[in-house]
Amino acid sequence: MLRAGAPFNPSGSSPPASEKRMPAFQKISVLGAGNVGGSLAQRLAEMDLAAEVVLVDIIDGLPQGKALDIQESAPILGFSTRVTGSLNLEAIRDSDLVIETAGLARKPGMSRSDLLTKNAEILRGHAVAVKSFAPQSVVLVVTNPVDVMTYWFRRVCGLPPARVFGESGTLDTARFRTFVALELGVAPKDVTSFVLGTHGDTMVPILSLSSVSGVPLTRLLATDTLAEIVKRTQQGGAEIVNLLKTGSAYYARPPPRPNWPKPSAGTRSGSFR
Ligand code: 2OP
Repeated sequence: MLRAGAPFNPSGSSPPASEKRMPAFQKISVLGAGNVGGSLAQRLAEMDLAAEVVLVDIIDGLPQGKALDIQESAPILGFSTRVTGSLNLEAIRDSDLVIETAGLARKPGMSRSDLLTKNAEILRGHAVAVKSFAPQSVVLVVTNPVDVMTYWFRRVCGLPPARVFGESGTLDTARFRTFVALELGVAPKDVTSFVLGTHGDTMVPILSLSSVSGVPLTRLLATDTLAEIVKRTQQGGAEIVNLLKTGSAYYARPPPRPNWPKPSAGTRSGSFR
């Protein structure tokens, strides 16, 4: 029988004991079962990153249906994560990691800040739930406007700052690396870069720290081409919103890393990169 964390083995036979490994997390809860939450839960399960992934939403049938659908892909993809859906915030109890994806997504013409009031109200209830049911967890906030929502979530839940952080820099950096790779016709993984600042039009791709297989980007691309790539990165979210028309991006979302500190590892006041 395959356990969570066991490597994918298409033959179906049990891997040798030496290949078996424990999942990095015992329990990850994903708040919001929309496009972002659903696709993240799928990715987490497929990576066998946790023994249990819980998807929570207020729309009856949505978290349960997506969780069951993901669960039924386990025999095909070879993961062992248990995936469940719930309407009850208490389902996040004792999570190692809580990922906040709930809230409204922007539509064409809207800025991320236009979502602030409504999403702050939704996140308030979730932050209170984290305080009650998962006070030892690490929280990753994805909901927009992500910089403000991360601050807000932390204020309401009261967890130490080092345990509540927002996802945005990785997405912005991934966009920049993608555009460079497309321009140069190189593998995206060979492009190294670093985008700093807020998740918005004022983000700053650091050109001096950008390279392709060690060759500085400024030697490979003309200044005006680089300026276009910087601008496209800054407006990367809006570009997708304008194409989709009914929602925002959800595939280019980084999953947690297996080596993130766990509450059980005595890291309750640690810091994260
Ligand atoms: C983005 O940049 C949704 O903010 C997210 O695509």
